[in-house]
Amino acid sequence: MARILILVAVLGLCVGGAAHAFMAGNPKAGRSLAVDHCAACHAVPEEAAAATEADAPGFETIALDDANYTLKTMRRAMKTPHWPDGDVMLSSKDADNVIAFIVSLRPKE
Ligand code: HEC
Repeated sequence: MARILILVAVLGLCVGGAAHAFMAGNPKAGRSLAVDHCAACHAVPEEAAAATEADAPGFETIALDDANYTLKTMRRAMKTPHWPDGDVMLSSKDADNVIAFIVSLRPKE
């Protein structure tokens, strides 16, 4: 019985925590993916290497402009390779991680 109660408590914590972050995404993994594959064009906060593509919004800009960059547009951008190694598709998990990273740049309420 006690075990079941603990399980229920742990599940409750997970669900509560996920509501704050973005679903299943891991912002840390998303950040390192963004640094490796996206930072040449999209500025990553606190990353020394400068983004060179002037047209690309920095990830902080994307995060703060949630009227233009909704979860839907972000997800679509992740699923539409627009980077030079264009045959590199992000898995759904990678996409969730990057979105979680972007969402983590929004100010906390
Ligand atoms: C070669 C440069 C380049 C690389 C590399 C790149 N992007 Fe972009 N990205 C752009 C440009 C330019 C835009 C803005 C143009 C547009 O809106 O179509 C953009 C737009 C976006 C947007 C905004 C969505 C939208 O519809 O405007 C997101 C989100 C995004 N990129 C995510 C990523 C992610 C994640 C990666 C790495 C896996 C990445 N980008 C790599 C150039 C790049």
